[in-house]
Amino acid sequence: MAADARFFGLGGRASGPRLRDGTYRLWNTDPGGAFGPGDDPLYVTMPVQLVVADAGTHLVFHDTTWDGTVLLREGEEGAGSGHDRPGHCELRMDGGPLRCWVMVGAPSRVLHTWAALTGAPALPPSWALGHHHARWGFGSEQEVRRIVAGYQERDLPLDAVHLDIDHYDDHQVFTVDRERFPKLPVLAEELRRDGVRLVSIVDPAVKAAAGNAVYDGGAAVDAFVRDASGRPVRGVGWAGEAVYPDFTDPRVRAWWGGLYEERLAEGFAGFWHGMNEPVSFNAFGEPTLPRSARHALEGRGGDHREAHNVYGLCMAKAGYEGLRELAPEERPFLFSRSGWAGMQRYGGTWSGDVATGWPGLRASLSLVLGLGLCGVPYSGPDIGGFDGSPSPELYLRWFQLGAYLPLFRTHAGLRAGRREPWEFGPEVLEHARAALLERRRLLPYFVTLAHLARRTGAPYVRPAWWGAPEDRALRDCEDAFLLGDGLLVAPVLEPGADRRTVRLPRGRWYDTATERAYEGPAQVVVAASPARIPVFARAGAVLPVRGAEGPELEVWAPAPGRTGGGLVVPDAGDGLAEPELERYVARRQGRTVVVTRETEDGSSPPAWPVRVRGLG
Ligand code: GLC
Repeated sequence: MAADARFFGLGGRASGPRLRDGTYRLWNTDPGGAFGPGDDPLYVTMPVQLVVADAGTHLVFHDTTWDGTVLLREGEEGAGSGHDRPGHCELRMDGGPLRCWVMVGAPSRVLHTWAALTGAPALPPSWALGHHHARWGFGSEQEVRRIVAGYQERDLPLDAVHLDIDHYDDHQVFTVDRERFPKLPVLAEELRRDGVRLVSIVDPAVKAAAGNAVYDGGAAVDAFVRDASGRPVRGVGWAGEAVYPDFTDPRVRAWWGGLYEERLAEGFAGFWHGMNEPVSFNAFGEPTLPRSARHALEGRGGDHREAHNVYGLCMAKAGYEGLRELAPEERPFLFSRSGWAGMQRYGGTWSGDVATGWPGLRASLSLVLGLGLCGVPYSGPDIGGFDGSPSPELYLRWFQLGAYLPLFRTHAGLRAGRREPWEFGPEVLEHARAALLERRRLLPYFVTLAHLARRTGAPYVRPAWWGAPEDRALRDCEDAFLLGDGLLVAPVLEPGADRRTVRLPRGRWYDTATERAYEGPAQVVVAASPARIPVFARAGAVLPVRGAEGPELEVWAPAPGRTGGGLVVPDAGDGLAEPELERYVARRQGRTVVVTRETEDGSSPPAWPVRVRGLG
C-alpha cells in the first residue's frame, strides 16, 4: 500500500473509522457484554476494505466467508527524504476459494460499484427515519403506554417503540406474555393512530421444548442445525436450551419467513434481529455454535466454519423475504445485529451493546461510518449506551449525535438506568426536544438520502474526506461527518466542551446556527454549548425540509459567482412506488439566489416553496 494510504471498513469496528496498525479478525462476535473501542471483533465483520491514498481510492473485497485476519500497518512518509515506508496489508483466511474483487475510482463511484455487486440497500419506510425508543425491560402494556404518554405530554416527536425479549412468553421467540401484554394488537392499533409503530425483537434461538409451536414446526420440517452425526445441535439462548434454524438452507428460510405472520397479527410494523452471530451461552469455549455443526450452505453442504459469518445475513434474508410475501404492499423494516457483505439488501444494523461512557459515544460514530463504507448505510447506536447510567451531559451529546444518524434510537439493557429524555433534568429535556424537532424538520432530507443510498450506494453518513479524498488532513478527521452532500455535522464527543474545532473541506460552509460563512479548507473553532452540536451547510446546498407550513426547500446561498444544487426524492412514506428524482440548481445573482428545477425539457420553478439562507 502507498505510504500515505489510510484504511477503513472491515465491517463495524469500534476503534475506527480510520483503522490503525493492528490485526483485525473476520469472525462475527458478540463481545458478551457492553463493548468499547478496544473490543474487536464485533457483531458485523466483513472482508471489505476501503483504501484512500493520493493515488486514488479503492475497495477490495476478499470474497470468502471463512474465519480470517487482516493485518494492517500504515506507511510512513519520509518527509522529502525520499525514504517512504510503504503501508502493508496482509490477509489470512482459514478456507477458500479466495476470490478478490477490486473497485477503483472516486469514493462515490467505488460505493456505487460495490452496491452493483452486492445489492442496493433496502429502503426503510419513512417512519423508520424518525425517532425510536427502546429498552430491555418494558414490563407491561401499561409501561409502554406511560412512556408514549410521556413523549406526547412533552411534545416530543416519537415514531416507534421497540419491545425486547421481555414481552415474550418466557423469552420464547414468536410468542407473547399474555399476562403482561394481554391485548398487544389493540395497543399497536392505538399507538399507530398516534403515529407510533411497534417494533419487535426476533432472536434465532428456539427453545428446545416439545409443545413450543416454533420448535415443533421447525422439527417437522427439519429446520435445525445438526452435528456431524445427525443429531440437532443444542445450545443455550435467553429461553434456556435451544436449537438453531439453519438459515443457509432456502427451505428453512421459507419456513422461518412465514413465522412473521404471527408478529404482523400482533400489530408489529418492524423487526429487530438480535443474538444472530449466532450466540449460544457456553460456559466453556466460544459463545456460538460448534465449528463442526453442519449447514446446508445453499445445498453445497459444509460446516459452521464457513457458515458462521453469514448466519445473520441469511436470517435477515429469511425475514425480509417472508415479510415481502406477507405484506407485499409495504417496505419491510428490519435491522440485524449480525451480518455480512450484502446485508443492506434486507435492511440495516445497529451498534449492539455499546458501553455507556465517552469512549462508547466515539465508538458509535466509528461503527456507523465504517459500516456505511462497507455498503450498509442504515445504522445507529444505543443512545446513552447499553449499560449503566450516562451523565446528563453524556446522554445529551449522544442524543444530539444520534439525531443526525440514520437509526435514531434510544435503547438500554435490563439493569441500565432510564433513557427517556425527561429523566435528565429540564435543561437536557429542552435540548433533546430541539434535537428531536430538528430531526423531524430534516425528515424529507433523510428520506431523500435513503432513496439516494438505494440508487447510488452512497451512505447517508460519510467521512469528511468523501468529496475530497486528496485532502490528507480530512482522511485523519474522525470527529465529524458529512450527512449527504449538503451538511457537515460536528458532534461533541468529549465532556466539558463549549466549543470545538472543525476541519472544513474545500468550499464555502455556513454555520447553520449563525449563518456565518467560512471558507474551506480550513480549521475553525465554533461554539458548541449544550444547546447544540455544530452543523454546517455547504454553500449552494438545496435541502428538502419540513417547514412550519409543509415541505419546503432550504437553500444555502452559493458563493458569489458559483452555482449549487441538490437532488430531492419526494416520498410516499411507505410502499414500493418509485418516485421521480427532482434535480435543483441554485444560482447566485448579486444579492439574489435563483432556484430552478431542471428536467429533460428545461427549467421550471421548484415544486416546493423556497427559503434562502446565508445571504446575511
Ligand atoms: C442483546 C441485544 C440487546 C438486547 C438484549 C436482550 O444484548 O444486543 O439490544 O436488549 O440482547 O434482547
